[in-house]
Formats: sequence, structure tokens, C-alpha cells
Amino acid sequence: MTRPLQATLVMGTRPEVIKLAPLYLRLRREPERFSPQFWTTGQHRELLDQALATFALTPDRDFQVMRPGQTPSDVAAAVLGRFQETFARERPDVLIVQGDTTTAFAASLAAFYAGVRVAHVEAGLRTWNRFAPWPEEANRQMISCLADFHFAPTSRARDNLLAQGIEENRVWVTGNTVIDALDLVVARVRACAPTLPPDFPAARLADDRLMVLITGHRRENFGGGFEAICRAVARLAERFPRCEFVYPVHLNPNVREPVARLLSGRENVHLIEPLAYEPFVWAMDRASLLLTDSGGVQEEAPHLGKPVLVMRDTTERPEAVEAGTALLVGADEERIVAACARLLEDPQARAEMAHAVNPYGDGHASERIAEILGNAEFGTRKEEEITTKEHKKNKKRR
Ligand code: UD1
Ligand code: UDP
Repeated sequence: MTRPLQATLVMGTRPEVIKLAPLYLRLRREPERFSPQFWTTGQHRELLDQALATFALTPDRDFQVMRPGQTPSDVAAAVLGRFQETFARERPDVLIVQGDTTTAFAASLAAFYAGVRVAHVEAGLRTWNRFAPWPEEANRQMISCLADFHFAPTSRARDNLLAQGIEENRVWVTGNTVIDALDLVVARVRACAPTLPPDFPAARLADDRLMVLITGHRRENFGGGFEAICRAVARLAERFPRCEFVYPVHLNPNVREPVARLLSGRENVHLIEPLAYEPFVWAMDRASLLLTDSGGVQEEAPHLGKPVLVMRDTTERPEAVEAGTALLVGADEERIVAACARLLEDPQARAEMAHAVNPYGDGHASERIAEILGNAEFGTRKEEEITTKEHKKNKKRR
């Protein structure tokens, strides 16, 4: 291709911005090869804007789909409609999506219907249980059906894609771009502590006291799951009065209601607004341990050498569990209390989990993805079909 590759990166939520920013910045560095556009569906608003500000990014388009208390269907329907209209007027060579959000799935589907190629960053994560996490597991399996390029963060993710029948010549193991983002930000915050917001309990953390950093927002934990999580944190806070429990509360009303009802008014539980990425990375680095149901935090904690208790029954990121830095505790009051108390009481147990491992990447994932896209042959759809058929024939012969 003689003209630069028209690559449109789509993001809608906080984690997609964090994980696509390094790739966008990398593509922008070579204007003779790449002409990147950065679009947001606006599935999130405040959380998205916070993440964009960290990387000093302004989207080229903003479809502003977020509505309070939205369902995945609301988001999918709005994204499909807006992307159909846009693709009717302009079509990039490739649409780059990330992860497993409704933004990523619906944008991929619209691109597929419009004949636009799809590149999937963070492809191949699987629990193989459509209901955990819900609806993300189904979203990512469906994106795999639609994508032309599959960028798998680990070799296990690659194997999952092959098990789903994806042709191996469309799969590349690149590492996860979250580590590129984290490396960038952790270097900044270690060199110079970021400004912390006024609701952050900085004064109480001035000495080296223990700190537990908490995040939670999974739809499958709404209701009973969140009540159990909050009861566990309340019990732990009473049992460990010299430990500070810092909880930046997600903006979803289904999360905020039980958290405020069950956890507010406790001296050592700090319910604060979501943190921008720099202070959040600083807080992870300061924490004694992390208690979370987040996907991204499961990838970041091992890189920072932090023990992480994962409030889920299953995970699509088993590498950290196998490396011993993550432990699954479910959204289960007794298991959360037992695992957390053990780590808070026993420095040796904490130290055993607190070793830095890098199963999710080496900080160069964006570079690899850019090279693969930059060197790809963008033939016609017909040619691609032939290549796929040839590939299947060759596979049978082997
Ligand atoms: C979505 C992603 C999930 C990701 C999470 C990141 C899907 C299916 N899930 O969660 O994988 O981990 O985002 O946080 O796409 N809200 C605001 N302001 C914001 C963001 C959210 O007020 O900036 C509130 C709104 O009321 C919104 C609600 O939170 O309706 C839910 O947001 P949504 O993106 O739909 O959440 P999830 O689908 O649970
Ligand atoms: N994060 C942040 N501020 C917060 C909580 C999380 O910047 O208050 C970052 C976190 O470091 C990770 C990403 O947001 O990179 C994870 O987003 P989230 O937990 O919302 O989504 P998930 O990763 O579960 O899809």
C-alpha cells in the first residue's frame, strides 16, 4: 500500500482508552505509514474523560451513547446505528477494537456488516463460561468470529483462539498493551508522586500502615454479590483498625447504592470517586494488597508485584493465578474475609504472593501490533477468502 494505512481505533470505556492509547500514540509516530483516527462511542463519560486526559488525547469522533443505568442492548443498538451511518460515508482500512466491551463487540459487528476489516487487541481471553464474566465472555467470543487480525496477549490466549477454529495465520502473540500503558505511567508516578484528589485519605497513609485498594463493578456481582463484598470489607475494617481500606467506587448506580449503604461512615473505609489513571497506579503501587473483580487490575498487579484477591469464581486471566500472585476468592463474604485477613496478619504470606511477574507482556505490545498491521497485505475480500480456504486445505494435509 503506498498511502498510509487508515486505522480507526474505537474505544468506549475506561479500560479501552488505557489499553489503546499506547497503540494510537505508536501509530501516530509514523505518519508516512499510518493515518490513525481515535473514535469513542462514549459508552462511558466521566471515566472515559479521566482516562483520555491521562494520555492527553482528544477523540476525532464522539458518539456519546452513554445513558444512566444503560443495558448492554442499549449500548449495542446505539453503536450499531451510529457506526452504520458513519461507515456509509467513510470507511477505514481497518477498525481496531480492544477487549470485550459492548462497544468493541457492536463496533466489530457494524464493521463486519460494512465490509471493514477488524483487528482485535487482547484477543483470545476465555473462561468458556458465557455467564462469567457476563456479558464480556460472550462479547469476546463473538468478536473472534468477526475479526481479521487477532492480537493475543499470551500463548494461552492464542491456543484458545485456535480451539475456537480461528486460522493460525490470523493470530499473533503480542503481549497486552496494558503493560505498555502501565510502564509509561508507573515511571512518571515513581519519579514524581501525582496530585491526589481531596477525597483521597493521604494523611492517614503518611506512615507505612497497611492499605487495601478495592475496586468492583462486574454485572454478575450486582445484588447479592455486592452485598457480600461490602459485608466482607466491613468485617475486615473492624478487625484491622490500623489498616486503611481505600475504595474508588465505580459510577454505576448498581454499585454505588449497596456500597454507600453498607460501607459509609466507617473511619478506616474510604469511599472515594474513581481515580484518574496516574493516582490509581500510584495507589496500586502503595497498596499492601488489591481486592478487585476488574480485568485490567488483574494484569497490572503482577507487574507491580502486588498480591491480588480476585472477587470472581473464574478468570479469563489464569496466568497470574498460576504464577501465585493472584487468588480467586469469589464474591463470597467468608472467602474474602479469610484470604484478606491471612494476608494482613502474615507478612510472610504477603511476601510470598508479592513477587513481580510479567505473564501479560513486556511493554512492547503496541510496537508489535503496529509492525504487523504496517506489513499486512490488504487484498480484496475475495483474495482473503481464497487464502483462508488454502490455509484450511494445508492444515488438513499436515
Ligand atoms: C463496562 C464493560 C466492562 C468494563 C467496564 C469498565 C461491557 C459489557 N462491560 O461495564 O467490561 O469492565 O465497563 O468500567 O461493556 N457510568 C457513569 N459514568 C461513566 C461510566 C459509567 O455514570 O463514566 C454509569 C452509568 O450509569 C452507566 C453505568 O455506569 O449506565 C454502566 O456503564 P457500562 O459501561 O454500561 O457498564 P458495564 O457494562 O457494567
Ligand atoms: N482504574 C483507574 N481508576 C480507578 C480504577 C481503575 O484508572 O479508580 C484503571 C485500572 O488501573 C485499569 C482499568 O482502570 O487499568 C480497569 O478498568 P475497569 O476495572 O473499569 O475495567 P476492566 O479492566 O474490569 O474491564
